[in-house]
Amino acid sequence: MASLDTYIGTVRSDILKIIPDSRSFVEEHLFQVFFLPDEKLNKVKDLLQAEIDKRLHPDADLNDPFTFYPSFVEQVPDGSENGKYLAIDLGGTKCRTLVVDVNNKTTSQNIIEETIPMDYIRDESASNLFDYIADQLHRLLTDCKLLNTPTSLKLGFTFSFPVKQLAVDKAEVINWTKHYKCSDLIGKDVVDKLEDSIRKRGEMNVKCTAVINDTIGTLITGAFIDPHCSIGLISGTGTNGCCFEPVKNIREYRNTNGREEKMVAIDTRWNNFGYGDVIDFLMSEYDREITRDTVGINMGIEKLMCGMFIGENVRRVLHKMYTEGISFTSWKSWPSQWKDVFSLDTSVVSDILSHPLNGMVIVNKYLSKFNIDNLPENDCRLLYRVCELVVIRAGHVTAACVACLVQRVGKEVIGVAVDGSVFKHTSLYRDVLNDKANTLVDHKQKVYFVPCNDGSGLGAALIAAMMDKSD
Ligand code: GLC
Repeated sequence: MASLDTYIGTVRSDILKIIPDSRSFVEEHLFQVFFLPDEKLNKVKDLLQAEIDKRLHPDADLNDPFTFYPSFVEQVPDGSENGKYLAIDLGGTKCRTLVVDVNNKTTSQNIIEETIPMDYIRDESASNLFDYIADQLHRLLTDCKLLNTPTSLKLGFTFSFPVKQLAVDKAEVINWTKHYKCSDLIGKDVVDKLEDSIRKRGEMNVKCTAVINDTIGTLITGAFIDPHCSIGLISGTGTNGCCFEPVKNIREYRNTNGREEKMVAIDTRWNNFGYGDVIDFLMSEYDREITRDTVGINMGIEKLMCGMFIGENVRRVLHKMYTEGISFTSWKSWPSQWKDVFSLDTSVVSDILSHPLNGMVIVNKYLSKFNIDNLPENDCRLLYRVCELVVIRAGHVTAACVACLVQRVGKEVIGVAVDGSVFKHTSLYRDVLNDKANTLVDHKQKVYFVPCNDGSGLGAALIAAMMDKSD
């Protein structure tokens, strides 16, 4: 990609060429909203820094639902881990179960990945969801001939929702995010729930020895691949980051003597950052509408950057352009496929952007899958440009959050272990993130991104392997 500024300049002049009569819309609605100058991004970085410090403070209010808990993961793999370990990764729309062979500093794995039925996700009771997960594990252990083993198989559980972490293998749900309901699990231990369902399903001799957030799993996988990794990042349905923090900064370790030099990984829960009016200076009319229309989905600043909301932002901008007669004038009505909140999936945006801009035919071909009529070339180009702008903003805001953690970690060269569908499938997002994160950090620091495919699940298995050694 050419330098980011040149790129954005090209996007701006191209949109102005397509809709020359709507200069004010382009300037005020598209660029003001989606193109964030460095001052704003630096402000995000500083505010998030202050927020993390506040939450780590020994006097922080423990009853505050946004409080931090350490992960109790105090080390990274050293290469001496060996054996067969299991993992379950529950976080977005997919459930992944893994059998991982860790051997001689390498891993190989068998994975089953399934899209979780929406009914289970939206159910008030978590029982169907957990029974479903136990079924998936049973399927995998059957395939791998690991049913009824004489000794118990150790499992790491990646549970990517806000929890009150009480020990490495004990975490109570604070609330659900993303599309999940399952309210009867709030305040309960997810490990107990998982083990109950596994026991009920039968024939599996499995012990869950660790429960972690996906950021922590990804960081551990990253550190296994590259020792410079000290930050974990998820850019998927949700987004979040973690890093290692000195234990002396952590309330739970206050009375632990002789370990002051140790570090522990913390989930910064940056996804929550931005409630109230703290990030008002970033919020667009689209973000405000989205917040109003998605009451009950407990997500903060991530609404500006994660997979759950990128498609929704695009949908709202296109809708505004349609209703104001700025574009898509050939449509007699707004496409019914894009009527509801979340009906334009972020994967559509990633797919469209994966074709070069001049391949407009491809955009049309792609839209025809959704029964959306042939768009004139200019509308196609506009749609493409809107996708770009929304993704650029997502990359920028993520970069500000990453830069904040880079500042905390303080080393000169820092690897960020990253997993998640947005990062994996959207090359523009990757480029913007890399470019902007390096602009926002201290000029003596260099940050780079280490893709960790299935890192969140694999990391859980690696933690189970590390725990096994320290037993
Ligand atoms: C959501 C969850 C958080 C998770 C993130 C990435 O923000 O609340 O726990 O880490 O998504 O999956």
